[in-house]
Amino acid sequence: MGLFSSKEKLPTMEDLLHHELADLYSAESQLVEALPKMAKAANDSTLRNAFTEHLEETKRQRDRLRQIAGMLNFEIDTTTCEAMKGLVKEGEEVINSEADPAVRDAALIGAAQRVEHYEMAGYGTAHTIANDLGHRDVANLLNETLQEEKNADKKLNEIALNRVNKKAERM
Ligand SMILES: [Fe+2]
Repeated sequence: MGLFSSKEKLPTMEDLLHHELADLYSAESQLVEALPKMAKAANDSTLRNAFTEHLEETKRQRDRLRQIAGMLNFEIDTTTCEAMKGLVKEGEEVINSEADPAVRDAALIGAAQRVEHYEMAGYGTAHTIANDLGHRDVANLLNETLQEEKNADKKLNEIALNRVNKKAERM
């Protein structure tokens, strides 16, 4: 938010990269708060473990963004990611809903995969811009996180296919 609201100074690609990274930093920070609640709400033990593991990974990803902000020398804690706010809110609606545990787990996975895809889009964008601007070290770090988000998404898909949806369909 805010990058394109100033009339005085047109943003550069460097500004855009900082903005994308600040947005991701806010997204990861919100997720650090949300994932323990999702883990608590999960009925399936494999799903619960996946959320708990991704919480630790998310904390490392947030630290990585702080490291990148140090490398590029800008303030990263400057914005609120409104999209992640909405995704977290939708996740909370699932947590607070009354449903069969397996059906609720399937809905939790749906909410979590939306988050992963949002992050994949954000990291993909930031990675491309960083590369174009010649920030190779930054691009490599962003690619590490991008691959982790892809793996997290894949893992959720597998849990849905092999465990949760099968349980839910038996209801
Ligand atoms: Fe993440």
